[in-house]
Amino acid sequence: MIIAITGTPGTGKSELGKELARRNHNVIFLSGFIRENGLLGEYEPETGSCDVETEELDRALAGYVRSSETYYAEGHLSHFLTCSAAIVLRCSPEVLAGRLEARGYSQEKVRENVQAEVLDVILCEAGSPGTSVYELDSTSHTVEELADSVQEIADGKTENYLPGKTDWTGDIDRWF
Ligand SMILES: Nc1ncnc2c1ncn2[C@@H]1O[C@H](COP(=O)(O)OP(=O)(O)O)[C@@H](O)[C@H]1O
Ligand SMILES: [Mg+2]
Repeated sequence: MIIAITGTPGTGKSELGKELARRNHNVIFLSGFIRENGLLGEYEPETGSCDVETEELDRALAGYVRSSETYYAEGHLSHFLTCSAAIVLRCSPEVLAGRLEARGYSQEKVRENVQAEVLDVILCEAGSPGTSVYELDSTSHTVEELADSVQEIADGKTENYLPGKTDWTGDIDRWF
């Protein structure tokens, strides 16, 4: 079983993935997995990144995972993969902008990503038949707390994490 850990860049997927790995869970860091398996497509000048074929990645993952175990697949494309559940990390616009600025993103790129976060883009993309979707807010929760929440979700205690609790639209004027 694969559980996707997804979210807008800067919401904390990789940090959460590292914490889950520290707790001895199986974690697949997709950017590394894609590179190591030669799945990186051609460079796209328009987006400044390389395309990855979701179907190819899906096939490679199917060959990698053992069906009896649970894997967390971390990355902003993970919710497009065949997964039992998608955990969408969220972060308030203000805090997200600060994290992306600290990463050296251009103002344009910060804005683009914050707009996507305000518009729930990944949350909407993640919802598909057969995939349960949950939200975790990383704005004011430590990675340890988030990892505890992931454990609760995996244990079926999902009521606190059902989507719909996050609403960043109060901040909309600043970012559009
Ligand atoms: N739960 C958290 N609380 C506070 N800061 C966090 C948290 N998770 C991540 N960060 C910080 O946010 C930034 C982006 O985190 P990262 O895990 O790289 O995001 P992503 O993989 O989603 O792009 C990093 O500087 C990290 O230290
Ligand atoms: Mg990351």
